[in-house]
Amino acid sequence: MSQFQSVAPETLSDNFFTRIGKEWSLVTAGTPEHFNTMTASWGGVGVLWNKPVAFTFIRQSRYTLPFVNDSDYYTVSFFGGQYMKELSYCGTHSGRDTDKIEATGFTPVFDKQAPYFAEADLVLICRKLYRQTMNAESFLDTAAIDRWYGDNDWHEVFVGEIVEVLQKV
Ligand SMILES: Cc1cc2nc3c(=O)[nH]c(=O)nc-3n(C[C@H](O)[C@H](O)[C@H](O)COP(=O)(O)O)c2cc1C
Repeated sequence: MSQFQSVAPETLSDNFFTRIGKEWSLVTAGTPEHFNTMTASWGGVGVLWNKPVAFTFIRQSRYTLPFVNDSDYYTVSFFGGQYMKELSYCGTHSGRDTDKIEATGFTPVFDKQAPYFAEADLVLICRKLYRQTMNAESFLDTAAIDRWYGDNDWHEVFVGEIVEVLQKV
């Protein structure tokens, strides 16, 4: 497996519509002893407060949420269209009752502020800057409430400063 290089966010030419929406990602947080990961295909990458940031949306029901809440950092790992079966598994099973690492064979790496995966080809290391719970009053298009939040399982919105980008060459 090739090695990661730390690169400046501004050097990336990735299409994040594809990266996030089509190829999906894993959002991961915790310690070597106690961490969790889940698949995410909603989110974004951009600029806020003059910083490179990731926007991450985690529903309140996710087991991953308390891991992100309890950590200063989380990671977003991308796999470039490989490992879709494994990403599908991590998006349809909960760490509450399954061992996603054993099931997928993924290799967690713990040499940064939050865990990420050796099989990824791009990793964003994110430092939490902001968190907000979505609420019905803030929706301007209320159709989205019926479509996505009929069960009141709102997203927590996170803005994470991208403090490091790991890219495989
Ligand atoms: C393709 C795909 C994309 C997903 N995107 C998100 C997302 O952006 N935010 C979210 O809260 N859940 C998302 N999910 C659902 C979680 O990954 C899923 O509920 C997972 O089992 C949660 O695991 P956990 O309980 O171990 O945290 C997605 C699932 C799939 C299959």
